[in-house]
Amino acid sequence: MTTTPLNRSLEPLGVSIPSKVPTHWYNLAADLPEPVPPHLHPGTREPLGPEDLAPLFPMNLIAQEVATERYIEIPETVREIYGMWRPSPLFRAHRLERALGTPARIYYKYEGVSPVGSHKPNTAVAQAYYNAIEGTTKLTTETGAGQWGASLSFAGALLGLDVEVWQVRSSFDSKPYRRIQMEAYGGICHPSPSDLTEAGRALLKSHPDTTGSLGMAISEAVEVAAQDPNTHYSLGSVLNHVMLHQTVIGQEAMVQLEEAGDAVPDTVFGCAGGGSNLAGLTFPFLGRNLREGTKTRLVACEPSACPSLTQGEYRYDFGDVAGLTPLLKMHTLGKDFVPPAIHAGGLRYHGMSPMVSHAVNLGLMDAIAVDQDDALQAGLIFARAEGIIPAPESTHAVAGAIAHARAVTEPEVIVIGLSGNGQLDLPAYSPYV
Ligand SMILES: Cc1ncc(COP(=O)(O)O)c(C=O)c1O
Repeated sequence: MTTTPLNRSLEPLGVSIPSKVPTHWYNLAADLPEPVPPHLHPGTREPLGPEDLAPLFPMNLIAQEVATERYIEIPETVREIYGMWRPSPLFRAHRLERALGTPARIYYKYEGVSPVGSHKPNTAVAQAYYNAIEGTTKLTTETGAGQWGASLSFAGALLGLDVEVWQVRSSFDSKPYRRIQMEAYGGICHPSPSDLTEAGRALLKSHPDTTGSLGMAISEAVEVAAQDPNTHYSLGSVLNHVMLHQTVIGQEAMVQLEEAGDAVPDTVFGCAGGGSNLAGLTFPFLGRNLREGTKTRLVACEPSACPSLTQGEYRYDFGDVAGLTPLLKMHTLGKDFVPPAIHAGGLRYHGMSPMVSHAVNLGLMDAIAVDQDDALQAGLIFARAEGIIPAPESTHAVAGAIAHARAVTEPEVIVIGLSGNGQLDLPAYSPYV
């Protein structure tokens, strides 16, 4: 839906795109045995209509939130930008296998090759594009680790949108380079809670020393977007359209595994904060399990300090602290839960993607909780074998996979979702080196 003439940065350049970059996103909703419970209006508790979401999101993304078709075409401009770093590599972790003495064949799908260093641009570019073609001029968002805020700032720079980010206080203080990264792309970054919003001021009054949380930062970003018709809000995880955009990861991995002669992996591990890199990698495999009866086991690895899938309740809850978002059916620790200031800032979210929650609830996906110490130790084992220093978030998937690989006695195929690199998160490793 176009309401303004396309600005030049939105038109495809006509450059060649590597053929392995998927042409479509894969929508798990088409293959689920039961539909994902709808998001509800907090006042009426009725399923949301498009008009309820229109102040925050463009129509294309609202449509994708409830879409049921299996494949949705990726706009050419978005595919061209994906082509700057996609397909991301799938590596066989030969040296890790030898270091562990495992009979398993271990692969990892590495999203740290994106310009920002993680999987987050896969949806940032799509969201910025759909907003820009509808005439939005500015996006607001929250960020935990800073990867998402930087990704949206990157996408805004390429597609001509202003970006304003509220970064969780603990990570704003511990990761000054992330703020500079956002600013380098032209974004603006505030610590959250801030005194710039009503929600932020109320939180600062009631909890003056709070380390912040993603739920608080979301409230601030939503509040600002809702007040300006030219400004929309953009979420880096959790919502169905975000899961959809990330499925380029798993679709590529399936092709790459087939080429490597291991078409059907036994177990796939992904870290889970709001669920997007996990869904992106695993949903195409889950869809194949459901359609063709393959038996790939999918494992969500969450931090034991913020264990929504393994300890939370499966119920309707708000996505933010102030209660400004719709009600989402998800595994939640409660919207007021403030997780400890763990190093993996991107995993500090009280809730979980409704699609991932639904899959876990139906028994289609497993979940485990990983201690921070075990995760970062696993990150070092990985770095010393494979050379890449994983993002602290990704180390949770690495730890799950290493524990599994050490336990197996027969050859099997393991895939790790390496959602990002840890180059700007090195202080997280300093107590462990
Ligand atoms: C590298 C990395 N991995 C994982 C996550 C967690 O988010 P999600 O569960 O949506 O993939 C983040 C969030 O910031 C991240 O930066």
